[in-house]
Amino acid sequence: MRRLTATPTILPLLIASSAAVVPYPPDALQLPLLRRSTPTGAPRYLVGVTVGEPGQTLSVLLDTGSHLLLVRDARRGVCAPGADVPSDGNCFNSSTSASLVSNISDPTGTLPIFVDVDTEVTLRYTSAADLFSFAGLHAAINATLGSIGLLSNSSDTDTAYFWADADGVLGASHSSLSTNPIELLLQPHGLMFALDLSPRGANGGTLLLGGTYALPTTAEEAASTPLPGVEWSEVQDRPRYQQLELFEPAVCGASLLGKTSSHWSAIVDTGSSCLSLPDDVFDAMWGWVPANCTSDSPPSPGTTTIRRCYLLPSMDATKLPVLSFRLEQHGRTLQLPLEDLLLPPDQNGAREFCVRSTHRTAADASCPEACPSSSPILIGTMALQRFFAVFDMQSTRSRVGLAPKYPSLSSEELAVRKESCIQKSKCIGQQHYSAASNRCIQPDCKERYFQHLDEERGECDHVFPFKVLITLLIGGFTIAEVLLQRCQIQFPLEAELTVADAN
Ligand SMILES: *[C@@H]1O[C@H](CO)[C@@H](O)[C@H](O)[C@H]1NC(C)=O
Ligand SMILES: *[C@@H]1O[C@H](CO)[C@@H](O)[C@H](O)[C@H]1NC(C)=O
Ligand SMILES: *[C@@H]1O[C@H](CO)[C@@H](O)[C@H](O)[C@H]1NC(C)=O
Ligand SMILES: *[C@@H]1O[C@H](CO)[C@@H](O)[C@H](O)[C@H]1NC(C)=O
Ligand SMILES: *[C@@H]1O[C@H](CO)[C@@H](O)[C@H](O)[C@H]1NC(C)=O
Repeated sequence: MRRLTATPTILPLLIASSAAVVPYPPDALQLPLLRRSTPTGAPRYLVGVTVGEPGQTLSVLLDTGSHLLLVRDARRGVCAPGADVPSDGNCFNSSTSASLVSNISDPTGTLPIFVDVDTEVTLRYTSAADLFSFAGLHAAINATLGSIGLLSNSSDTDTAYFWADADGVLGASHSSLSTNPIELLLQPHGLMFALDLSPRGANGGTLLLGGTYALPTTAEEAASTPLPGVEWSEVQDRPRYQQLELFEPAVCGASLLGKTSSHWSAIVDTGSSCLSLPDDVFDAMWGWVPANCTSDSPPSPGTTTIRRCYLLPSMDATKLPVLSFRLEQHGRTLQLPLEDLLLPPDQNGAREFCVRSTHRTAADASCPEACPSSSPILIGTMALQRFFAVFDMQSTRSRVGLAPKYPSLSSEELAVRKESCIQKSKCIGQQHYSAASNRCIQPDCKERYFQHLDEERGECDHVFPFKVLITLLIGGFTIAEVLLQRCQIQFPLEAELTVADAN
């Protein structure tokens, strides 16, 4: 039954995916991606790599949010029956690789990683070196020691969530290491790769190596070279991640950043599935998008309330508002309909939005200008499914490009979706309206002496004892005044009398 109720929301996705408009550049090499799910139904994408001599073929999570090649090692207790998270049974076995060089004196290191913000996974690994290549591509890379991490078994139950049954991780981010595995793998392909992640129901997707993604400059060029219209981020100087700037992220016609900034740093992280937003941006989004959230109000500073938002049972997912943004100040507007972020129904039939708050606010981040912000937006696999993503890792022009895979929504469709937005809040009393979050901000009464907030009226009111004090003071002054007046009358009278006596 639950599956049946989910069908109407899946169907448009399938129809949409058949209308996908992503012609691959003819000079790019195509490798298939495997689509796997975490226990919550969040998608992860695996790619085939071959490690060792003789080569062992493994399916590893392609993670643009890290930079190591880590493989689960059967010799280190991983993949033993019942010992660890299941894999597809193709775990690496370092004992059977003749080419492996491992540093026995190097103690096992630990690597804490955060997945979808709230899940922390601690991995234990030992550095080693071995031959590796993309599965099916023959040029094996003989890298120096430290290029591969052999993972030991772990008691961490959250690894199941991270792995989605993968045999390891291939980090596809920048690093300062000369032996960055992804850069070694991409060297023959001009340090370029692209991802076409397929949504549910379709095949896993495609990893493209190399390829020309220059935008056609003339109409004839556009007609003759059917390349996707890639919107590029600005070139990143010595990037640490697959980073880009999002300009004017907005829902329901309201900029989510408000007055903080016109743009915000984002990192493409395919090791996560959700879209993670700074706390205040998260808050702003649910001020406009109707949803059932576990906590309505922003958490007080210093606390880390985990907030989750669910689709309202009465809501048609295909009419949810659209998140829009640009990659350049004057670039094309890209659209992300929010149903793309909905996880499959849980055991109660509820559909959660794969949107997380990063427990840090954009307003508190120290750099409002374009800079590696301390609280970036994280773009996981669910948001990335809608785009064809290109990663240019050349040191002189590191940048990320996105091309929409589906035609833009028509203005009629956008108007229908905008109707589902929460209506503009009407503020009362001394409240002021925040357009970013569509909320009424109560006046800060603590700033004013002896005042407290009357929440219903949205006004600052005098504290009760203060009123009494004022009454007493006014009373006191009145009495004093009367007394003083009497003195003033009496004193001159007495003085006159004394003067009269003297005379
Ligand atoms: C790993 O390979 C060694 C040597 O071939 C073998 O003895 C061992 O059983 C293998 N381990 C697993 C878990 O398959
Ligand atoms: C790791 O594997 C070894 C041998 O299979 C086992 O003795 C140990 O308990 C395992 N440790 C964890 C944390 O699962
Ligand atoms: C890898 O390179 C090292 C030195 O760079 C060499 O000693 C070793 O034999 C090579 N291994 C393979 C399998 O080619
Ligand atoms: C092996 O590990 C030890 C301890 O971490 C380190 O001092 C040594 O340089 C390493 N050897 C190689 C060949 O990397
Ligand atoms: C919101 O979620 C809670 C708990 O999941 C549920 O009890 C409540 O009925 C939901 N409210 C609406 C309006 O769906």
